[in-house]
Amino acid sequence: MLIDIIAGARPNFMKIAPIVRAIESRAAAGGPLRYRLVHTGQHYDARMSGDFFEQLGIPEPHANLEVGSGTQAEQTAAIMVRYEQLLLDAPSALCPVVGDVTSTMACAIAAQKLRVPVAHVEGGIRSGDWTMPEEINRMVTDSITNWFFTTSEVANGNLRRAGVADDRIFFVGNTMIDTLLANLDRLKPPPFWEELGLKPGQYFVTTLHRPANVDAGDAFLRLLAAIGEGTRGMPVVFPVHPRTAKTLRELGSGEGSGGSGSGSRGSEGHSRGSDRGSALPANLCLVDPQPYLEFNWLVKHARAVITDSGGITEETTVMGVPCLTLRDTTERPETITIGTNELIGTDPSRLKPALDRLFAGQWKKGAVPPLWDGRTGERIVAALEGLLVGTRPNG
Ligand code: UD1
Repeated sequence: MLIDIIAGARPNFMKIAPIVRAIESRAAAGGPLRYRLVHTGQHYDARMSGDFFEQLGIPEPHANLEVGSGTQAEQTAAIMVRYEQLLLDAPSALCPVVGDVTSTMACAIAAQKLRVPVAHVEGGIRSGDWTMPEEINRMVTDSITNWFFTTSEVANGNLRRAGVADDRIFFVGNTMIDTLLANLDRLKPPPFWEELGLKPGQYFVTTLHRPANVDAGDAFLRLLAAIGEGTRGMPVVFPVHPRTAKTLRELGSGEGSGGSGSGSRGSEGHSRGSDRGSALPANLCLVDPQPYLEFNWLVKHARAVITDSGGITEETTVMGVPCLTLRDTTERPETITIGTNELIGTDPSRLKPALDRLFAGQWKKGAVPPLWDGRTGERIVAALEGLLVGTRPNG
C-alpha cells in the first residue's frame, strides 16, 4: 500500500526522517506500507533543504513540485495545484503531513478534496496567535485531518475540546526528537568553530526569522542590540535565515546572503557585527544557515539559545540547554512547564533581566516530556499499518 510523505520546508525534514526509516525497516521485515516522498520545493536552497536530506539520510524525493518562493497564497495555490495533479496521475492511500508550514496545509487540502485521508504528525498544537501563518496552517490542517499523531497531552486536550474523538488521536511523541536522539553522537562543530574561538558554555546561539521580529528593520535592530548587551560580550552565533538576511540587506548592513554563500562574508560564511562598524552589536557572529549536525552541535554546547523558533525549544529541552524565546505565545507549552524554555516576549527590555538570571545560575534544569524517547516514528508507522491495513497496533 502506497502512502505519501510530504515535506516542504526546513523544519519538516527532521520530522519525516524517522517515519521514512520506520517504513523502510518494517517493509524489509514484510510490512505492508510503501511510501512516495513528495518535496513541494517550498525550501529549495541546499542550505535550507539539500544539506538536511544528505545529513539525515533521507532518500531523493520521488516527486518535487518545485513551487519555490512566493506570497502565502501563491505558495499555497501552487502546491495545491501541483499536488492535486500528482494525486490524479498516481493516487496514494494516505497523505501524512508534518508540522505547520504552508506545504502542510496545502497538501492536506488537496488530498482531502480528492478523498485521500490525511494524517497530521504534530497535530493539535496551538499558539492562539492568528498573526502567525503557522497557526492558520495548523487550524486549517487539523480541521480536515482524519488521524492525529500528537506530541503532548496539551495537544490531545486541544483536539478533544475541538470535538475530535479519542480514536482519532494517537499520542506518539515527537519525531523531531527521534532525529535528534539518533544523531547526538554524530553532531560536529562547524568549520568556523576554531576561527571564532568558540568554547563550550562560553557563547550563545540565536535564531530569528518570525515576521514579527525581523520584518521591521528598526525593531529588529533594537532586538539585536538587546541581545548584544545582555550576553555580556560573549560571542553570539547567529545563523541568518533568508528572510532575516533580506531585512539585514535592506538595513544596509551588507549582510544577508542567507544561504547563497555570497555577500560580504568570509570564505567560511561568517562575519562579526564589529567587522564594518555597522549598527550590529560587536559580539554578534553572523553565519549562513547551518546544516543539521553543525547547528545542533552549536546548540548542545551553547550557554543558552535565544530564538523565535518553535522546534528549537523542543531540541533545547531535550539537550538541557536554557532557551529564551522571543515570542509572546508558544504552541509548545511543555517546553516551558517541563523543559528549559521561557517565554521572554518581543519587548527587548525584557531580555536583559532574564539573561541576568541565567548568568546568576538561576535557570531551571528542566526534564524531557513523556514519549520524547526516540521511538515516535515506529509508533506512527505501526498505527498507520493498523488503520490502513486493519491490524491494530499493540501500543
Ligand atoms: C517557513 C515556515 C516556518 C518555518 C521556516 C523555517 C511557513 C508559513 N513558514 O518560513 O514555519 O519555521 O520556514 O525556515 O511555511 N527562501 C530562500 N531559500 C529557500 C527558501 C526560502 O531564499 O530555500 C527565501 C524566500 O524566497 C523568502 C524567505 O526565504 O524570501 C522566506 O521563505 P518562506 O518559505 O516563504 O517562509 P519562511 O520564512 O522560511
